[in-house]
Amino acid sequence: MDKWLNFGVLQTSKLAYQLTKPMLFAKSAQEAHKAILRVLVRLDASSIAQVAIRQLYQATFKPHPVTVGGVDLPHPFILAAGFVKGHGFESEHDALIAGRHHNIIPGWRTMPNLVGVVEFGSFTRHPRMGNDGVVIWRDIETHSTQNRVGLKNPGAVGASAFLAGRKADLPTVFGINIAPSPGVDDLEQEKSDILDSISAFITRGVRPAWFTLNLSCPNTEDDPSSHQTEAKTRMLCRAIQDLLAHETNNTIPLWVKISPTLSDVQYRVLMRVFADEGVSAVIATNTIPLPTPDNPSVMAGVGGGKLHDHAVRVAGLLMDEKRTYGYLVDVIGCGGIQDPISYQHFRQHGIVVAQYWSGMIFKSPLMAGTILAELEHNA
Ligand SMILES: Cc1cc2nc3c(=O)[nH]c(=O)nc-3n(C[C@H](O)[C@H](O)[C@H](O)COP(=O)(O)O)c2cc1C
Repeated sequence: MDKWLNFGVLQTSKLAYQLTKPMLFAKSAQEAHKAILRVLVRLDASSIAQVAIRQLYQATFKPHPVTVGGVDLPHPFILAAGFVKGHGFESEHDALIAGRHHNIIPGWRTMPNLVGVVEFGSFTRHPRMGNDGVVIWRDIETHSTQNRVGLKNPGAVGASAFLAGRKADLPTVFGINIAPSPGVDDLEQEKSDILDSISAFITRGVRPAWFTLNLSCPNTEDDPSSHQTEAKTRMLCRAIQDLLAHETNNTIPLWVKISPTLSDVQYRVLMRVFADEGVSAVIATNTIPLPTPDNPSVMAGVGGGKLHDHAVRVAGLLMDEKRTYGYLVDVIGCGGIQDPISYQHFRQHGIVVAQYWSGMIFKSPLMAGTILAELEHNA
C-alpha cells in the first residue's frame, strides 16, 4: 500500500511540474534559473514552507540507505554542485556584510529539505562575480544544459560565515565542493587557497559529510585540464588529506570531481593517485566543454543528455581500474541521469550512487525520488 501511495504522490508531483514547466521554459534558461533562485530565497525564509517541503520529501523519497566514499546516505542520489552555490561578490568584505542581512546562498535550506542530499558550491578562496552576459543555455531536444557561469560564488569565507550562522538548520548530510582559484599559476598559492577554503568551513564549525575537490571546472579562462595532471593532483590531494587529518582527525572524507575529456591513460593514472592518497570517492564527471549556441568560438560546459555517454564511459573505465587493482576509491556517476534507464547505465558498471543537475530541470525537482520509486514499482 505504502509503495502505491509513494508512487501516487510522485506521479502527482511529476504532473504538477509538467504543468509548471511551460511557464519556466517560456523564459530563457538564464532567466528561468534566476526566477528559481528568487523563489528559493522566499522559501528558505519560510519555516512553514520548509515543513511542507520536508513532508513532500518524506512522501516521495523512500529510504534506500547506502554508503559511498565514507559517507552514509539516506538514498543513492545527490544534487550535484552548482545549484546551491550562492551569489557572486566583488570582495570578501561585501560577501560578509551581505550575508549578515540577506540570503546569499539561495536554496541552502529548501533544496536539502526537498531532495535530501546536496553538494554545496563550488566555492573558491575569494568571491567571484563569474562571467558576463548569457552564461546558461538549455537544449530541450537532448535534455542538455550548458553553462559558463564561471564559478560565481561568495567565496569560502563569505559562504562559511553565512552557513555558520544557520547551523541549526543545516542538513545532517551535505557536501561542500571547493574549486581552485582560477587564474592562479603559482602552485603553492593554489594549494594554500584550497587549504584556506577548507579551513574556513571547519574553523567556523560548518562540518560537511565530505569535501569535494573540483579539479574540473571548464568554465573559467584557465586551462581546465591543467589541474588534473598526476603531480598536481597528488600534491593537492596529499595537502588536503594532511589538513583533514590534523583538523578533523580524518572524520571528513575527501572526494574529487574530474572532467570527461581526459585520455584513458590519464584516468588510469589519476585513479592510482586517488588510491595512493586515500581519496574516498571520485565523481565522474563534470560537464563537457562544447561551443555555445550564441558563439561557436566560445566554449561552455554541457551537462545532461549530451554528456551522458561520455560520463558513463569514464565512470566505467574508473570502475574497471578499481576492480583490477582493488582500489578503495568509490566511483560516483554524474552525467545525464534523468530516468531509470540513464541511471541503470551507471549501475551496469556497478555504480550505485549518482549525482544529477540537468534532470532536475527537464524532469522534475523530485526526479531522484521518481527514479527510485519507478525502479521499485517495476521490480
Ligand atoms: C548552471 C550550472 C552550474 C554548475 N556549476 C558547477 C560548480 O560550480 N561546480 C561543479 O563541480 N559543478 C558544477 N556544475 C556541473 C554539475 O555539478 C554536473 O557535474 C553536471 O551538470 C553534469 O550533471 P548533469 O548531466 O546531471 O547535469 C554546474 C552545472 C550547471 C548546469
